[in-house]
Amino acid sequence: MKDEVLRILKRNAGVAVSFCEIADELSITCKEVVSEVRKLMDDGYVIACENQYCMLETKCDVLNREEITKRLLCPFAVYVYDEVDSTNTVAKKLIDSCGDKTNIVVVANSQTAGRGRRGRSFYSPPSTGIYLSVVLHPNICAEQSVLVLTAAAVAACEAIERVCRKSPSIKWLNDIFFNEKKVAGILTEGVVDANSGRMNAVVVGIGINVNTTDFPSELSSIAGNLGGAPRCELVAEFTNELFKYCQTFSLKKHLDEYRKRCFVLGREVAVMRGDDKFIAKVLNIDNLGRLVVEKNGELLILTNEEVSIRTGECK
Ligand code: BTN
Repeated sequence: MKDEVLRILKRNAGVAVSFCEIADELSITCKEVVSEVRKLMDDGYVIACENQYCMLETKCDVLNREEITKRLLCPFAVYVYDEVDSTNTVAKKLIDSCGDKTNIVVVANSQTAGRGRRGRSFYSPPSTGIYLSVVLHPNICAEQSVLVLTAAAVAACEAIERVCRKSPSIKWLNDIFFNEKKVAGILTEGVVDANSGRMNAVVVGIGINVNTTDFPSELSSIAGNLGGAPRCELVAEFTNELFKYCQTFSLKKHLDEYRKRCFVLGREVAVMRGDDKFIAKVLNIDNLGRLVVEKNGELLILTNEEVSIRTGECK
């Protein structure tokens, strides 16, 4: 019944509706409406109530399990939290309790210890971003796990494009850019079967700055946001796209799409390899998602290095 009340409030967002009107439409009592409205407020919806009337705040964008689940095109166990340490950490713990082949979505309104690649942290303040981990079971071996990362980057761009009508691009390997700023990052972690060498499960974590503005000073010149988006829609759209790619694992299809969106292709980049820093020209992304570059006439294959298009500086 909570969802039905929410549907009516959304239809009238910004307009006061009487409890009795809602009660009539749903054939329940006014008292029951009040109790459902209270539950919605507990879920985080901003609803003003006065003199038997209630009104949903127009800019209310709450992460809600039902709103996400109803948009998913295949079965997932969906978990929504207000605050966690890291959705990837929570997702990995859930793999055991949910059973072997369950696909899982874990999303949080904020993270206290969001993790990025290379042991970095991911800034995850409340209500302005998406902190999401998707657990899937693609039929791949450990060496192919980087392809899940490239598929996730394409899925993120396609989801943003569809939901926000904006055209993001990819900085190899795992960063999503919009307006020359990083708006999302992806961290994948695999659970490998020691006997077969195949992946039991892969956890794809993505952090998206939906309308985050107050970045810490060290991020302020690099990080940007999408300028707003309905978060539940974006969560579901990303999950659906990722599932689609991991289901068929049509490598060619997603890598072609990745190459089209990757803005370092054909450009000079600064490469950080351990303590070494050098300039190289990007020639291609191979079928394993690796970056093929040329340095002083020599071909090099990059797998895990950090690249930056700002020559002399790595961002
Ligand atoms: C990066 O930019 O280096 C990757 C950032 C990945 C952040 C996401 S937020 C959801 C998930 N949980 C985490 O702790 N990290 C990923």
